[in-house]
Amino acid sequence: MKYLSLFLFALALSAFTACSDDDDPVNPGDQEFIATEADFAGHRGWAQPVSPISGKDPAGLVGDAHGADDEDMTRHVFINDNNVTRDGNGNFPVGTRLVKEVRMADGSVAMVTAMVKRGGDFNDSHRNWEWLMLGEDGSIMDRGANLMDNMCNGCHAQAADKDYVFTK
Ligand code: HEC
Repeated sequence: MKYLSLFLFALALSAFTACSDDDDPVNPGDQEFIATEADFAGHRGWAQPVSPISGKDPAGLVGDAHGADDEDMTRHVFINDNNVTRDGNGNFPVGTRLVKEVRMADGSVAMVTAMVKRGGDFNDSHRNWEWLMLGEDGSIMDRGANLMDNMCNGCHAQAADKDYVFTK
């Protein structure tokens, strides 16, 4: 009996191995795009899907520290490819990058946020977007699926019918 169960175990194991050896063609839709700093280089030269929007940033992440009146702020949105085509479900392709800068009246930049269509299984309940905080030069300060205790996911879910993107 002992040998029989050992045999069955070995059989199950070999079946499993055989299965994982299968060379399934990779479905491009399942691939992940993990952005590096180079992927944000020169973002100010990218297309702007909308004209700059004035007033306080709805995310409310820019505190009073910057000293200017909220109404003096402008939000500038950039996209790496303005001719990007959504798929049949309205989703942006993996690798799509959007950057938003919040600027003060004097032109100084108070905050840079970004969202990247990372794809794969990443942030599955929120359309596979990765959220990032960038430095002015495009350096990556912070990133993740649940950035800011899910604030990015939560608010952008209001644009779920546009694949979480408000301005494009
Ligand atoms: C309370 C709502 C709210 C929160 C929280 C929020 N956003 Fe947004 N975000 C917006 C709105 C509204 C826009 C549209 C542009 C505008 O009005 O500034 C936007 C625009 C953007 C854009 C440009 C693409 C687009 O959707 O138009 C990026 C990138 C972005 N947000 C990143 C982030 C990141 C990263 C976080 C979390 C750190 C975040 N946002 C949190 C409301 C929010």
